[in-house]
Amino acid sequence: MRVLGIETSCDETGVAVVEFDQAGRARVIGEALASQIPLHQLYGGVVPELAAREHMRSLPILLEQLFSELSDQHGVTPKSVDAIGVTCGPGLKGCLLIGVTFAQGMAGASGVPPIPVNHIEGHILSAELHFPDLQPPYVALVVSGGHTEVVVVEGLGRYSVVCRTRDDAAGEAFDKSAHLLNFPYPGGARLAECAASVHGSSRFTLPKVAREMRDFSFSGLKTAVALLIERNRADIDADPHVRAEVCWVIQDAILNALECKVVPEVRARRVPLVVCGGVSANRALRERLQARCPEVYFPPLKHCVDNGAMIAYSAGRYLMAKKSAPALDIYSRWPLETLSVPLS
Ligand code: KG4
Ligand code: ZN
Repeated sequence: MRVLGIETSCDETGVAVVEFDQAGRARVIGEALASQIPLHQLYGGVVPELAAREHMRSLPILLEQLFSELSDQHGVTPKSVDAIGVTCGPGLKGCLLIGVTFAQGMAGASGVPPIPVNHIEGHILSAELHFPDLQPPYVALVVSGGHTEVVVVEGLGRYSVVCRTRDDAAGEAFDKSAHLLNFPYPGGARLAECAASVHGSSRFTLPKVAREMRDFSFSGLKTAVALLIERNRADIDADPHVRAEVCWVIQDAILNALECKVVPEVRARRVPLVVCGGVSANRALRERLQARCPEVYFPPLKHCVDNGAMIAYSAGRYLMAKKSAPALDIYSRWPLETLSVPLS
């Protein structure tokens, strides 16, 4: 069985075809991705209308590129896929609409089912795509530019959210801090790169995270970071080492906030940990969680960020399990825990 996946929920257009064998083992046979980062960099953040327009422009180009490679190598054409998975939420309404409309049109033309996919579930399942021996139950830490949540995964479509962010996502905390340091959008990875030259401590401090609070909150940190940068602006601009120490202390504060919620959950349940979403590309986060949890899985870097393969794989899993998904529609807010109940 072959499933096409389409991802357009935010600022990456992703398409992929995933092939499942009789035993349910999956492999990505082709994929293409177009990042809109250069477009949004001009504005310091994602501009929803521009993002939607850019998806509309690049989606047909990517699909053509994908299928021209696939038909040469595997004889796979748009008409020979068995289903089309598409991200229906959560995400930006106008962006989701482009992917869903395309999927609907293609599915109608080929007579195959369009399968709605939850973007966050896609991120989580990308670990099962790459580590076939990984079985629920496990804990997933979803850390992206739009989402930060700790989830207990009981099985396909069965999730309980232990905690999530009340305000900014971890990726947003990275990006907003990076913006104050004049790194181009989205500065998370650059801030992390700059912090990497510092080993273990910084002359600066930031307030400790509130461990007793159930959910994550990064808005207090955002204010503290803004003050720290304002007070030390001249030194940060003049001395690269001061700049690196500021980056280090910001990254340390964000990682502490993540660790203090996820590590106790993993230890109490004695289950593996999956870390997914864009921030899971962060090397320091990987090292710290690997040191503190016995069994940790990270999807490969190219599937940490948004991509079509995770959407194709999720759709294929639903198809194989004969599990029904909600109607094909746009769900710009679509909390994971509602996956087992019908949406209206
Ligand atoms: O999952 P993703 O590609 O898109 C969303 O669904 O949001 O995540 C993008 C986020 C951005 O905030 C980006 O700055 C952050 O992931 N990110 C990183 C790193 N690489 C990407 N944050 C910290 N360290 C990194 N190495
Ligand atoms: Zn994402």
